[in-house]
Amino acid sequence: MVKAIEWKDGKVIMLDQSRLPLEVKYIECTDYHIIAEGIKKLWIRGAPAIGIAAAMGIALGAQDIKAKNYREFIKGIETIFDVMLSTRPTAVNIKWAVERIKRLLKERRGESVNRLKELLIEEAKKIHEEDIEVNKAIGRWGSQFIKDGDTVLTHCNAGSLATGGYGTATAPIFVAIEQGKKIQVIADETRPVLQGARLTAWELMQAGVPVTLITDNSAGALMKKGEIDLAIVGTDRTVRNGDVANKIGTYSVAVLCKEHKIPFYVAAPLSSIDFSIPTGDKIPIEERGAEEVTHIFGRCQIAPDGVKVRNMAFDVTPAKYVTAIITEKGAFRPKDIRKLAKKDVNLDEFRL
Ligand code: MRU
Repeated sequence: MVKAIEWKDGKVIMLDQSRLPLEVKYIECTDYHIIAEGIKKLWIRGAPAIGIAAAMGIALGAQDIKAKNYREFIKGIETIFDVMLSTRPTAVNIKWAVERIKRLLKERRGESVNRLKELLIEEAKKIHEEDIEVNKAIGRWGSQFIKDGDTVLTHCNAGSLATGGYGTATAPIFVAIEQGKKIQVIADETRPVLQGARLTAWELMQAGVPVTLITDNSAGALMKKGEIDLAIVGTDRTVRNGDVANKIGTYSVAVLCKEHKIPFYVAAPLSSIDFSIPTGDKIPIEERGAEEVTHIFGRCQIAPDGVKVRNMAFDVTPAKYVTAIITEKGAFRPKDIRKLAKKDVNLDEFRL
């Protein structure tokens, strides 16, 4: 399994995904600003992976805070929180990681500054390790939807590169293969920055999973021919009513699936579910620079100079298009996802 990020010997080691698949280059980060820049520039991307990167960035930055007491330490760390939160707005995982760290600091306010610094490193590593286990659980719950002989469509990259190490949308695929099912994957190339072509196709090939790359506009034609059995995608933020934000183009895939009566699944760790937002129209959608659309990799120009560009990085798929949301606690109908926020609910009654 490819590792997108790792805490090693007091440093954060990040695979620079912007160079894939042509070059496998790891960046050693000793300054949290580099991690923040890496999140903005997509050296690391994918909702769970940027949550982990933010937690590691906070732990890294905290080591340099010169504080005599808890109050001074909190003042210093708030600056780091703000830097991380300002990187990318759509994936809720950065906010999730910051809130988790804030809760930890509150619970441990009696500790020395040195101990708090250690605790932040432990917490960042824990967030990473837990994410891998969460992915595996998503795989176990999700594999029931994949039959022997199926072809699975996926959009963008919700694989090991986008997570702690096993992927969300790819996890049910890996488990189905472990169960002996013969399946194959179709990867949408995912314009503008081609996470499907550069990352999903690459990592599935590394893992020995049969994968076919298509242009984004081919999915409908293949569905019409009966060549796609189901779709599984990841999410950057799924909200209380089951609306799902994910890479731009996901909405089109979901609508096409509905038209062709193909099930459309979303793999969503709880760290990507924002129970504070009622509906998808309240999700902040990141708009990125024009160059991602007018150029391929900032090098080859493919549009006229000065053309007006709209580059929304994500879209929102309404819950009515989603067959089920697969979490580490089970798979649920989108309308039942809100039940996961409550402590006293028997989830067995709603699990698929
Ligand atoms: O812009 P990106 O590459 O960060 O977008 C990533 C996605 O849209 C993924 O599908 C999503 O973050 C889920 S990753 C498990």
